[in-house]
Order: sequence, then structure tokens, then C-alpha cells
Amino acid sequence: MVKKSYSGNFITFEGPEGGGKSTQIHRLSEYLKSKGKQVLVTREPGGTKLGGEIRGMILSPYDISIGDRTELLLFQADRAQHIKEIVMPALKKGTFVLCDRFIDSTVAYQVGGRGFSRDLIDYLNNFSAYGLVPELTILLDVDYEIGIKRATKIATDRFENESSAFHALIRNTYLEIQKSEPDRIKLINTTNSTVSFVSEQVQKVINDKYFA
Ligand code: TYD
Repeated sequence: MVKKSYSGNFITFEGPEGGGKSTQIHRLSEYLKSKGKQVLVTREPGGTKLGGEIRGMILSPYDISIGDRTELLLFQADRAQHIKEIVMPALKKGTFVLCDRFIDSTVAYQVGGRGFSRDLIDYLNNFSAYGLVPELTILLDVDYEIGIKRATKIATDRFENESSAFHALIRNTYLEIQKSEPDRIKLINTTNSTVSFVSEQVQKVINDKYFA
């Protein structure tokens, strides 16, 4: 195992499809900038040029056969490049890095959804992330039926085409991870909330941690 290193300026957003991560990341970015902070918004998969290619391969809803192991390793390849090329250099400069999905997605989707062992995923996550762990993760939880409806309004990809049972497993796995790491992972339920109400809750978490 690579030694774990926790970064205070690294904030990740997680959750099932349709929880509103990208909207909330955009709002938080504006909020942090209004407080005079440097902010970088990024995502996995697809935070680098190579990652953009990998993202296209993994998410294509078309008829390209991708086995579960191949899928897992493509996510990890995307992550290794992203951490080294984008995230670590930004953190070294003191920039806040807001990342749409990170290691918890791999636990939720590849352990909860695809059935890989947690030990294997922890090992691979640690390797591809160079041991980097965010100090704060915001979990935007949503009932999967509502989330999927919200998500498919925007786009359809290979994961959005999965069954309701698959998405229920993802959601439950996220909730389990949150219970096991409540200090790092802050849970916000978005099922019946407006975008503004969710933003207020995100800002409260940020104020308590960074501006108290
Ligand atoms: P994306 O369009 O970014 O999803 P969303 O808009 O819901 O964030 O697609 C990323 C998909 O990849 C999403 O369905 C979750 C999945 N994923 C994994 O299965 N494992 C991973 O490690 C990561 C980072 C994402």
C-alpha cells in the first residue's frame, strides 16, 4: 500500500446518478472564489486529455464490449493520470480542487454494483490515487428512481442504462461507506430538495470546516 495522505483542499462530490453534483460543484466553486480562494473544478473519469478518451470508451452506450475487469482498470488508469497531471500540482499550489467523483465511486459502483472485493478496490484506489484521500467528501444522496429520471433528462450512458436494482445497490453502498467514515463524508439528501436548499447545506458544511 502507498502511504495515505489526506488533503484539506481536496473536496470530492459523490452520489448516485442525478443527485445534482455538477450544479452543486459549480455553485461551491463560485462561493469559494467569492471568499478569495483559487479553485479548480475537475472530474473522474475525464479530467485529463487522456481521461477524455478513456471516458468516451467507458461510457459509450453503443455496442462496444467492455468486461467488468477492463472497466475497473480503465477507471483506475484515468485516475492515475488525473491525480499526477492535474490534482497534485494544483494542491501543491494551495488551490482548492473540487472533483466530481473519486475513489468512493469505485467502491459504490465496482464493489456495490459489479461485486469486486472491497480489499481489491481499496488497494487499486490507493495505488492509482498515489495514496491521496480527500479530507472532505460531499455525498449527494438521491432516491434512485428520481435520480435516474433527472439524469436521463440530460444524457444516456452505459451506467444510466443499468437496472433499478443496480442503482439501488450503488445507493446503499454509498450510504454504508458514509456510515463508516462520517467525519470525512457528509451526507446531504437531495431527493425532495431544491437546488438552492442543497447549496445552503453544502455551504454550511464548508463554513463549518474552512471558515468557522
Ligand atoms: P458521469 O456522466 O460523470 O456520471 P454522473 O453525471 O452521474 O456523475 O459518468 C460517470 C459514470 O462512471 C457514473 O455512472 C459512475 C461511473 N463510475 C464508476 O463506475 N466507477 C468510478 O470509479 C467512477 C469514477 C465512475
